[in-house]
Amino acid sequence: SRLPALSGKTVLITAGPTREAIDPVRFLSNHSSGKMGFALAEAAAKAGARVQLVTGPVNLATPAGVERIDVQSAQQMHTAVMQRASAADIFIGCAAVADYRVAEVAEQKMKKTSSNDELTLTLVKNPDIIADVAALTYQRPFTVGFAAETENLANYAKDKLQRKKLDLICANDVSSKEQGFHSEHNAITAYWQGGELALERQPKISIAHAIIELIANKLTQKRQ
Ligand code: PMT
Repeated sequence: SRLPALSGKTVLITAGPTREAIDPVRFLSNHSSGKMGFALAEAAAKAGARVQLVTGPVNLATPAGVERIDVQSAQQMHTAVMQRASAADIFIGCAAVADYRVAEVAEQKMKKTSSNDELTLTLVKNPDIIADVAALTYQRPFTVGFAAETENLANYAKDKLQRKKLDLICANDVSSKEQGFHSEHNAITAYWQGGELALERQPKISIAHAIIELIANKLTQKRQ
């Protein structure tokens, strides 16, 4: 009988949002629920892979057989990923990582004062996790990104594929409530060098199985 598509492979996945602290009680974040990344972890585990899931704060149960690593900030996610990336055959960056964090986190709760009607927060760039994985020269995993866009989906996604040196990018239009962030559904167009595949709107778990199958096929082609 045939082995499952990813047996013997290690898959490292990021999921969910990150939280960037402002002070002990406040943070910057986004609307990612983690559902897409958790669906990918479930699909990869069903395909026979060893799966490590690095996730920001979400309200989801860990899929069966998946090793879960909980983090909060982009910097923590970066550390957790870089510790494991070289041992992985496949990296999938599905997390909605905050591009910026607050430059100086206040040690105490920031107070509202009667004299200050405006408050300015200075933000600094976070490390680009997926770009750092894709830039590994020694034991670089097959690297799959996501692109969340509200316009110019194809162009922005293809630009990220090139710029971040990814093997595959899954573009989702996040301008509609019917798919993308938080929804049970998604619609994706996957792009790679010289090809693309459109996956119409369907439950995230079916999208995940299709993406895992596509990745498994690409890995087999690479080996031949
Ligand atoms: O979590 P859900 O509610 O199920 O929603 C799923 C989703 C919409 C969050 C998901 O499908 C998705 O699109 N995830 C990527 C969101 C995102 O941040 O996209 P981006 O275009 O800003 O980033 C591009 C790629 O770079 C992504 O693979 C991202 O993980 C990665 N990145 C971005 C910034 C950064 N500092 N480090 C990164 O690794």
